[in-house]
Amino acid sequence: MTKKWWMESVGYQIYPKSFYDTNDDGIGDLNGVYEKLDYLASLGVNLIWICPFYDSPMDDNGYDVRNFFDVAKEFGTMEDVRTLIDKAHELGIKVILDYVLNHTSDEHPWFVESRSSKENPYRDYYIWDDGKMKDGIKVEPTNWGSFFGGSCWKYDKPTDSYFMKIFSNKMPDLNWKNEKVQDEMIFIAKNWLDYGIDGFRIDAVSHLDRAPFEDIENTDEQYPLDWHKFSNLPKVHDYLHKLNDEIFSKYDCLAIGEVGGQASIESGLKYASFDANELSMVFNFDHNWCNNIEDVTHPNKLVTNVVQLKSVFAKWQTAFKDKGWLPLNWLNHDQPRLMSQYGNHKYPLESGKMLATTLHLMRGTPFIYQGEEIGMTNYPFEDVSQFNDISSISAYYRHLEKDPDDPVKALKKASLRSRDNPRTPMQWTKGYLAGFSREIPWMMINYNYKKINVENNLKNKNSLWYHYQELIRLRRKSVYHELITYGDFELINPQDENLFCYKRTLKDESLLVINSFSTHKVAYDLSKYEVLETVLSNYKKQSIKDGILHLKPFESIVYKIKEKL
Ligand code: GLC
Ligand code: CA
Repeated sequence: MTKKWWMESVGYQIYPKSFYDTNDDGIGDLNGVYEKLDYLASLGVNLIWICPFYDSPMDDNGYDVRNFFDVAKEFGTMEDVRTLIDKAHELGIKVILDYVLNHTSDEHPWFVESRSSKENPYRDYYIWDDGKMKDGIKVEPTNWGSFFGGSCWKYDKPTDSYFMKIFSNKMPDLNWKNEKVQDEMIFIAKNWLDYGIDGFRIDAVSHLDRAPFEDIENTDEQYPLDWHKFSNLPKVHDYLHKLNDEIFSKYDCLAIGEVGGQASIESGLKYASFDANELSMVFNFDHNWCNNIEDVTHPNKLVTNVVQLKSVFAKWQTAFKDKGWLPLNWLNHDQPRLMSQYGNHKYPLESGKMLATTLHLMRGTPFIYQGEEIGMTNYPFEDVSQFNDISSISAYYRHLEKDPDDPVKALKKASLRSRDNPRTPMQWTKGYLAGFSREIPWMMINYNYKKINVENNLKNKNSLWYHYQELIRLRRKSVYHELITYGDFELINPQDENLFCYKRTLKDESLLVINSFSTHKVAYDLSKYEVLETVLSNYKKQSIKDGILHLKPFESIVYKIKEKL
């Protein structure tokens, strides 16, 4: 295995719109990221992923790109990008950007051309189809649903045909079969790498190929969503080989792909094993929903399925052991907040620290999502009008359609998963508007900002923030650097319903990581180990009697150990 800089990094994801506003328009901006770089350096991260700030009509908060070479005016200017990258580099922080290659905005000049006539040279940049006749009327070419609800086709009047869009109506999918599209996208990536960025998070990368246009059979739904129709299909790998040949392999860059679409371990390895020559790593989402979130009878009582959670992590850790590298992340800008998903509101500090330890000491490159380091939570939505995210709004109406008499349930269901949860403004202080801006922000601030904020965390040495800082220090700067970064991972007691324990080993050194997900006391038999050192814990004192460790609620302990003979 060749060691790469990104294997020794700890990343931090920034959603610029919600991070920090410096010109008082209520919208976070690039200068806000710049101003907070010292903050990030003091946390200890050495890699940031900044979500899209390109020129965009903001139908999907910037994932709908109108111009890949310019900055949205609400976020700043190209000069701001320059100063941001330069200062980050001075601080030893690498910068990766979103590479949005599955689609553009419908306001992108290519699409404006493409939709204008069937003969236009840009026609083939997107996926067009004339549709078909059904019972005497013209309908979509297939009945496939899209991720954000409704059909994955949109009728377009000028040429009386349909274009494909697996996300929103304003995000037409690019036609990757067209070599010109491939070359344009390669040009864009090269441009940014030459500008000095250190790599990409590649958006929606698993969707670049589509199945033959045939209807999904045996369904009651008008537009059923079947990921397989546009996820992880064979040609994606051809395109990625080309991107790797022509770009990624030529720069010492990180190329980390988002592979939704229920990527299996096999397909994960196909994208990102060391010899795949495609991507450096892939984000998967298997660990995001290991609780009863679908069980609407108890929507406020999420219970973590610890056995399932461990099993998905261990599955990926094991499969990638000698073959590839993984990112380690709890959430991103599309998932509910970690504390609301797997944390416990009665033990926020203990459970927050425990969750951080659980993730950060596995093998891979950790990514923190903004606000995770202070324990930010979901927003208590009270009305659909409070949603900003296009997919949350459509999810609400889909739930309501199924159960028209229960709008409360529809709101609950949509809220629990809403992508607006991670997008409420970062809570910097307990002061006016949480110190995010001096003007009413574009998105509501969580009511709990007076308690949960950076200012409070920094004042208290026992806070969650300092626990994250210590985890990063242990990985990057301590005597355990090599072991935590490169050591083997072994899950212990996979069937235990309360504890998530694993061992990391490098040569003759081992760390034992013990994490309780229980609100009760739980015992763990330590008798076969000799404890050499307590490396990290989230309670002041541990209770060990006769070789049995008695863990308090959400207790988390990391021991350096030696196996007794
Ligand atoms: C990815 C992004 C998400 C976006 C979508 C379309 O899933 O993470 O935020 O809406 O792609 O670009
Ligand atoms: Ca601003």
